[in-house]
Amino acid sequence: CFVKSLGLFFWLLLARVNRRGGVDGVGRAVLVTGCDSGFGHQLAGALDQKGFVVFAGCLSPDGEGAQNLIRESSGNLKVLKLDVTKEEEVQRAKKTVQENLPEKGLWAVVNNAGVSDWAEIEWSNVEDFHSMADINLFGAIRTAIAFLPLVRAAKGRMVFVSSIFAFFHCLNMAAYSVSKRGLEAFADCLRVEMASFGVKVSIIQPGNFSGATNILKTKTALDLWVKLDEDRKKIFNRRYVEVAHDYFKSTCTTGFKTAEPVVTAMMHALTSTRPKSRYLLVSALDTVFFKLYPLLPTVLADSVFCFSSMYRTRAEMLFVK
Ligand SMILES: NC(=O)c1ccc[n+]([C@@H]2O[C@H](COP(=O)([O-])OP(=O)(O)OC[C@H]3O[C@@H](n4cnc5c(N)ncnc54)[C@H](OP(=O)(O)O)[C@@H]3O)[C@@H](O)[C@H]2O)c1
Repeated sequence: CFVKSLGLFFWLLLARVNRRGGVDGVGRAVLVTGCDSGFGHQLAGALDQKGFVVFAGCLSPDGEGAQNLIRESSGNLKVLKLDVTKEEEVQRAKKTVQENLPEKGLWAVVNNAGVSDWAEIEWSNVEDFHSMADINLFGAIRTAIAFLPLVRAAKGRMVFVSSIFAFFHCLNMAAYSVSKRGLEAFADCLRVEMASFGVKVSIIQPGNFSGATNILKTKTALDLWVKLDEDRKKIFNRRYVEVAHDYFKSTCTTGFKTAEPVVTAMMHALTSTRPKSRYLLVSALDTVFFKLYPLLPTVLADSVFCFSSMYRTRAEMLFVK
């Protein structure tokens, strides 16, 4: 019995050491979408340094971001033209990846490409929702479906870059939330289906990193105002649109100034022997709130916004009783 216990102890110790070792990049390829800037750009460089063969999907291969990547990386990084909304570009990228795979194959796909925007639902039209979902949701689904057979063969990883707005439904973020919640539904279903093939699926949920990437779309209060028809202009007066715009801009300045926590989480999802299903990346203080928020009954979750000065200002300015 003592010998068996000792054997079990050493087996567990060995398993722990093995887990710590992680997955190395030698002979393995990773495809990352949206590498022109931001998280994707930095991850591509970090993977290259770890010895992975990197296929860096870029919207503009001749642009500054892609060219910097080529200049700063080893010959193992290849920039591909990849607009995730275009089936023909995804298929062309797949062909290039297949023709240039290292011996251990395509280890992972990081579905990172994305855009963001903000507006109240009544300031939006269905096209705003469509165009966001086309990139953030269907772009990722299209890429995942195309590359799954290669990742399945390598028993590798699928990583999806979502957002806290997948579950935190606040003012102005509806179109983005719809795209990211859909993305998480897809990733969750994929994780369940892929488990029997040994493919692991992770979701990255960054909070506010707008100061660390190019995600912020610059638009003025006037851009928002001119989109409104006369009826809406009466309800959402010009002053309120300006206040909403200034508030949004000011909240964006409060976030992380470096993309490092996100890139570290992505790297863990790709190289740890035990990647997490979800990586929540918010400040230590916000972690408690964002862990609890999805567990709250709807009535409590909605009442959280009573504590926001912006929601009170909105009610006063729009004369909502
Ligand atoms: N930054 C944050 O605060 C934050 C928070 C939560 C989640 N996220 C998510 O993180 C991911 C990366 O964003 P980021 O913050 O690193 O912003 P970013 O710097 O703008 O990077 C996004 C990248 O996606 C590319 N892209 C846009 N449309 C594309 C398309 N149709 N096909 C392929 N690539 C496309 C962009 O190219 P161009 O540069 O040429 O437009 C850019 O390279 C996104 O999915 C975003 O939703 C970001």
